[in-house]
Amino acid sequence: MDTPLRIVIVGPGRAGMSVGLAARRAGHDIVGVMGRSNLAARAAILGAPVLDWDAPLPGCDLVVVAVRDDAIRPVAERLAPVAGSAVAAVHLSGLTSVEALSALGRAGLETGGFHPLQTMPNPEDGAAALSGAAIGITADSPLEGKLEDLALSIGACPFKLEDGRRPLYHAAAACAANYVLTALALAEELFEAAGVPFGLARPLVSEVIANAFDVGPRDALTGPIARGDLGTVAAQIAAVAEVDPDLAADFKAFGRATARLAGADASMHEMLR
Ligand SMILES: NC(=O)c1ccc[n+]([C@@H]2O[C@H](COP(=O)([O-])OP(=O)(O)OC[C@H]3O[C@@H](n4cnc5c(N)ncnc54)[C@H](OP(=O)(O)O)[C@@H]3O)[C@@H](O)[C@H]2O)c1
Repeated sequence: MDTPLRIVIVGPGRAGMSVGLAARRAGHDIVGVMGRSNLAARAAILGAPVLDWDAPLPGCDLVVVAVRDDAIRPVAERLAPVAGSAVAAVHLSGLTSVEALSALGRAGLETGGFHPLQTMPNPEDGAAALSGAAIGITADSPLEGKLEDLALSIGACPFKLEDGRRPLYHAAAACAANYVLTALALAEELFEAAGVPFGLARPLVSEVIANAFDVGPRDALTGPIARGDLGTVAAQIAAVAEVDPDLAADFKAFGRATARLAGADASMHEMLR
């Protein structure tokens, strides 16, 4: 980015610290950190001073409201009286409307959303993972261009995210991130029950995920449900039920969704009920 941004991070948790670190490493200036706990240590990592909630914000280009979703609106309302010297504010939520920052809008700031479509479990891994990640941007011009430049400067790929579509987008992200893990946790339990280390499945899982992005999930699907192999599916269900009936219920729930994906016939759906 030609002109480094002066950034204030509000809520230096997993995402705020990750974005702050990535921005700092890209040459932006973190001019202050506001939050609740461990502030001195977190601010030191970002090379920034701790700011007082009641003092006017320093002049800055961007306030990153990185608190959890439910706290965005009240924090924006609390910041509004002291934020007059800031140019713009964003939150990092995928779900929450940019309207949650309206108090800052009324205080004269441009407002927007900057949602990394990435998992940020801690500052270091999060900052590294932002390079190459997609970042959903919701803003009008000129803030939109500034946020696109910020995303590009940290090695990320900006895309336009419509505010009204956030809940659906967030549901999609939950499927892609959370439900994949739910399926893998079930697989881990069953592999272990079968005496096979879960780690041996890594090449299989990596290949399946690569195929999903290369040819699409529907065409990447293989296995007994896609083949219509009723006997094999019945044997799987019986084996899982022997380990734990609750696991069998989860296994069949995944099976029903897979049968819909595969366009399986009625007998397969009946078996998986
Ligand atoms: N982490 C991810 O992978 C990820 C990915 C994409 C988007 N996001 C988005 O990033 C935002 C933050 O998520 P996170 O995972 O970073 O959460 P987090 O680790 O819990 O961090 C939230 C930070 O905000 C502070 N905070 C919470 N409520 C506050 C309040 N009322 N007043 C002042 N400070 C407050 C917390 O302080 P304490 O430490 O005292 O609780 C913490 O520093 C959310 O909107 C989330 O949707 C996160």
